[in-house]
Amino acid sequence: MKIVVFSNKPYTERFFRAANEAHGYDLDFLEARLNAETAGLAAGADAVCVFVNDILDEPVLGKLAEQGVKLIALRCAGFNNVDLPAAEKLGLSVVRVPAYSPHAVAEHTVGLMLALNRQIHRAHMRIREGNFSLEGLLGFDLHGTPAGIIGTGKIGALVAQILNGFGCELYAYDLKPNPDCEALGVRYVDLEELYKRCYILTLHCPLTPETHHLIDEEAVGKMRECVMLINTSRGALVDTKAVIAGLKSGRIGYLGLDVYEEEADLFFEDLSNQIIQDDVFARLLMFPNVIVTGHQAFFTHNALSAIAETTLSNVAAFERGECLNTVLCQKVICGKGR
Ligand code: NAI
Repeated sequence: MKIVVFSNKPYTERFFRAANEAHGYDLDFLEARLNAETAGLAAGADAVCVFVNDILDEPVLGKLAEQGVKLIALRCAGFNNVDLPAAEKLGLSVVRVPAYSPHAVAEHTVGLMLALNRQIHRAHMRIREGNFSLEGLLGFDLHGTPAGIIGTGKIGALVAQILNGFGCELYAYDLKPNPDCEALGVRYVDLEELYKRCYILTLHCPLTPETHHLIDEEAVGKMRECVMLINTSRGALVDTKAVIAGLKSGRIGYLGLDVYEEEADLFFEDLSNQIIQDDVFARLLMFPNVIVTGHQAFFTHNALSAIAETTLSNVAAFERGECLNTVLCQKVICGKGR
């Protein structure tokens, strides 16, 4: 079985090579992102392994299928970048890693909250310059603070557990309430109520047509003055321009982002010698009360091992004609041997 791994990084390769000792697949690691120009590089492969910013639209999927690819192995949880109806028409199966370390993402989420609240990013810079003034660094106790979680699946439920440990008053919105969260005392309310009550809002629902720009101008207008907004889920849940307007008016008092809707042109690369062309992103970086991390919430040793092991186990299951962690299962056995 030949697998072409797109958007490879040295750390990806290290963990996949280690996990592959149990499988012996022919792995071809490519730095290139998968898109219409690079799809031809999958020639001769049975499967492609892709990440969050690879493009799997109809033309790309068509080109992959034409070259004999049978399986799309996502090495992430979200699958919003795959045109599933097109994959189905083309007979392609799609697998993913539904949970590699929800703890990694939940812990990073709370890390952003703590850093923003106590202005750790600014304090660090001040101390390095010999400025020991506390002016402008005033925070608030998390204990007793109403916090709202949108999407209480695996990650959202862990965020609820951690914030419960801090003594926050917990609210949530989800299409399907999670009994574990209810048992913890989380109160499910509608979005309007959530915006009205909470000083902290954190997003953990998937990106779907329904959740695209869930946080828009109207939503920001309903939030509490000086709210803290955290997004470690998917960039396009948030209309960045609406959020910038909210930061300028003071409605949003703190913003923590690990994802950005136009991140594909920025994240995971060293662009420190280049001029950032995205003016909206550049504006975000100008606010003292904004912290952006470059889609690193998942980035722990534990998560990278689990991603590599689960992805290759998904491929092995596909080879045996089984469905494991499938987004789309067409039960086609590759049959080409290794
Ligand atoms: P999950 O599938 O366990 O939970 C998602 C929850 O969102 C479910 O409870 C579901 O009912 C709810 N939901 C679905 N549509 C909704 C809607 N319209 N409104 C409110 N809630 C809705 O997913 P998990 O593992 O907790 O991951 C959440 C998201 O985190 C993923 O979709 C992914 O985009 C993102 N993620 C980000 C990572 C990072 O490194 N920043 C890493 C891993 C995941």
